[in-house]
Amino acid sequence: MAKDLPLSTRRTISRDLMLSLALMTALVVSVFGIIYRVYYTNQEIAGLATEASAVADEFAEVLSRPLWNMDGDTVTQITRAYLSSDFLTGVRVKTGPETFFDNLPKNQHPNQWLVETRNIINAGETIGSVELLFSKTRIDNVRKRSLLLTLVTVILVTAVIGLGTHILMKRLLIHPMNRLMEGIRTIAAGDYQYALPMEKHADINTIISEINIMAREIDRRETDLNKLRGMLKNIIDSMPSILVGVDPDGRVNQWNREAEKQTHVIAAQAMGCNIETVYPSLTDAVKKVTQAIAEKKTYKESKVTSYVKGEMRYLDITIYPLTASDAGGAVIRVDDITERVRIEEMMVQSEKMLSVGGLAAGMAHEINNPLAGILQNIQVMQNRLSSELPKNHEAARKCGLSMADIQAYMQSRNLPEMIASIMDSGKRAAKIVENMLSFSRKSEATTTLSDLAQLMDATLELAENDYDLKKRYDFRQIEIVREFDPQVPMVVCEAPKIQQVFLNILKNGAQAMAEYPDGPPPRFILRVKPEGDWVCIEIEDNGPGMDEAVRKRIFEPFYTTKSVGIGTGLGLSVSYFIITENHGGTLSVFSTPGAGTCFSIHLPVKKASVTSA
Ligand SMILES: Nc1ncnc2c1ncn2[C@@H]1O[C@H](COP(=O)(O)OP(=O)(O)O)[C@@H](O)[C@H]1O
Ligand SMILES: [Mg+2]
Repeated sequence: MAKDLPLSTRRTISRDLMLSLALMTALVVSVFGIIYRVYYTNQEIAGLATEASAVADEFAEVLSRPLWNMDGDTVTQITRAYLSSDFLTGVRVKTGPETFFDNLPKNQHPNQWLVETRNIINAGETIGSVELLFSKTRIDNVRKRSLLLTLVTVILVTAVIGLGTHILMKRLLIHPMNRLMEGIRTIAAGDYQYALPMEKHADINTIISEINIMAREIDRRETDLNKLRGMLKNIIDSMPSILVGVDPDGRVNQWNREAEKQTHVIAAQAMGCNIETVYPSLTDAVKKVTQAIAEKKTYKESKVTSYVKGEMRYLDITIYPLTASDAGGAVIRVDDITERVRIEEMMVQSEKMLSVGGLAAGMAHEINNPLAGILQNIQVMQNRLSSELPKNHEAARKCGLSMADIQAYMQSRNLPEMIASIMDSGKRAAKIVENMLSFSRKSEATTTLSDLAQLMDATLELAENDYDLKKRYDFRQIEIVREFDPQVPMVVCEAPKIQQVFLNILKNGAQAMAEYPDGPPPRFILRVKPEGDWVCIEIEDNGPGMDEAVRKRIFEPFYTTKSVGIGTGLGLSVSYFIITENHGGTLSVFSTPGAGTCFSIHLPVKKASVTSA
């Protein structure tokens, strides 16, 4: 690891200290050594010089008598004896012109030799001279020895000081420092509760206790921060809205629980991903994020439609740019307002239905009387033109006619057909009026405790046998999927009216699926299931479905998309009244264009339990 660090950081205090101490010691010891050596060598040299001088004096003294006697042999003997020492290397003894002994080398180097010259005196008279050549080898040896000594001392002392410093530094500094580093690493790893153990020395302990205090402080702040973070997360997660934070590049940095719930993507997966990939249904709005951030303006879009698992949902999307933080980004808030929109729609719907329904019912009442007159009188007319009644024959005879003549005339003028047609039209009008009358709120309830699943089955049978229906489509061609919950409680209701509602919805579905030749094979899914205090009935087809504009209006009386004669636009409005006004339930519709339609009926169970109790 140290290899990765720049060179300068490889220096350590201990190494620097060791090197500098060793260097300093080496320097000091060397200086002292040199001084000592110079002094000691000079001393030695001085000693040698004195010794040489003494030897020369003695030699001159000893030679004076044999030289006076001219005893050459003795001179030579004495000289040789002196020369046997390694100190004296050359001698030359002369008396006047005569040389008694000479073994001096020819070219003597002054540095190598020490030369002493003495006169040989006998009885106060100079009888000759002697020249002595002493070797300086001893001096050189002394010099060499002292140099070696100095060097060895320097090396030894330096090594001892260096090693000593190293060991001391290790014990006093490096080991405590390593323990300190270990502790700091433990704290840095997140264990802020860890307390560094104290060392032997006060100076390091000061650092340790400061670090311990710092760790406590970090621990406290971390705890505070975590608490705050937890609280914020709690707040954000408790929000009923989807809250998603994004950075300026559109990457998610906040993903609350509602977002997890709605998208089925958990926060850990969403973090760092592009918002468009984790929340694709938001793609259009996401494009506004950059704009909102750039303009520092809140962007809001209401009632955005979005398909979640094939179901249409209404969303309110708000993008708040984060202006306060340097990092930028934005918070996207998504509220699912589908329920609110549906309730609003239902309120509008029921208001509209009440007024239109009231009007229609009033009109129906007014039309009912003259229509009844027409129908009754036509009936009477048919009777009075019939040849079966004896009274008719009598009346004809009185007028001079026979019933056969009258009938022949009528046949020739197509009168019976016309009358039948009037009758037919009258009946059709009566049917409409009857439907319209059901818009009036009063209902002479003849309620029974009914099993809705059974009622549904009975209605299906009815639909299959409906000859009129068979003209346009064959109900038996439609696949029926029953998803009836066996636990469904009985409901108190007006069974024939509920059956009428089922039939109306089934007929519409069958018609819609028949008019959708490109669609899949026709299929109804019928569900009956308990939902709390309600029983829910769903009738789902896989027909063409309808768009928003149609869906909003289908419960309106007289609203139809079918041609005249086929649709009256009364089926669903009557059904709506039956469910909401007569039974206190709800009727709603969900539709996806191209995929199908689902009608959902909710009937309250409470009434049943009260009645049956
Ligand atoms: N299952 C369905 N699929 C598609 N459209 C439907 C469906 N049920 C009803 N509708 C639409 O609702 C309109 C109103 O229906 P309704 O009140 O029964 O009148 P009608 O059947 O006489 O037209 C229909 O004209 C049709 O456009
Ligand atoms: Mg209809």
